Amino acid sequence: VILISGSGSNLQAIIDAQESGSIPVRIRAVISNRPGVTGLARAEKHGIPFHVVEHTAYASREAFDAALMATIDRYQPALVVLAGFMRILTPGFAEHYRGHLLNIHPSLLPKYQGLHTHQRAIDNDDKEHGVSVHFVTAELDGGPVVAQRSVPVLAGDTAESLAARVLVEEHKLYPEVIGWFAEKRLTMRDNAAFLDGNKIELAKS
Ligand code: GAR
Repeated sequence: VILISGSGSNLQAIIDAQESGSIPVRIRAVISNRPGVTGLARAEKHGIPFHVVEHTAYASREAFDAALMATIDRYQPALVVLAGFMRILTPGFAEHYRGHLLNIHPSLLPKYQGLHTHQRAIDNDDKEHGVSVHFVTAELDGGPVVAQRSVPVLAGDTAESLAARVLVEEHKLYPEVIGWFAEKRLTMRDNAAFLDGNKIELAKS
């Protein structure tokens, strides 16, 4: 089950990987916390069930997360994928899907948790920026990192031009990591990620 909030270009990359047979997954459903977003149209176009669970309809984060979990759990997914899902999840949500919940974040974690990552990389004169895929734990953008890809920050970059360069890498990296999980090569235990039984230790994380 894939959770989105917007354009869903990462969702599209996963759909494309599924349809080409390059990864052994079946997307059971797409859920958005915002109605009318492009990502939902992508799901519909590809015949994937989709739902809107609007956070604005709930009085608390806990109530929203409970509704979200109820919608997800109808599908009993092996993996829940956050693909541009822009809500902070409660610790209870993270715990419920522990080891079965991945997020993609547009920075080289642990740098730039939170928002405006591209602008922050530019403002700090970073020469390198990128994307991370990590298991989600109760700590915001803080769970064990599974994989990263970097891109150069070029003179004259804007947040938009840099975001576009990072997105190219996101669209390659996320389907690949999801494929590892589907092939049962990727696991989380003791707050660490393992690929083929080896602990993933990234130089950058
Ligand atoms: C992506 O860049 C993703 O890494 C980012 O939102 C964008 C969604 O694009 N996610 C976060 O910032 C999570 N904190 P998309 O809807 O086109 O996939």
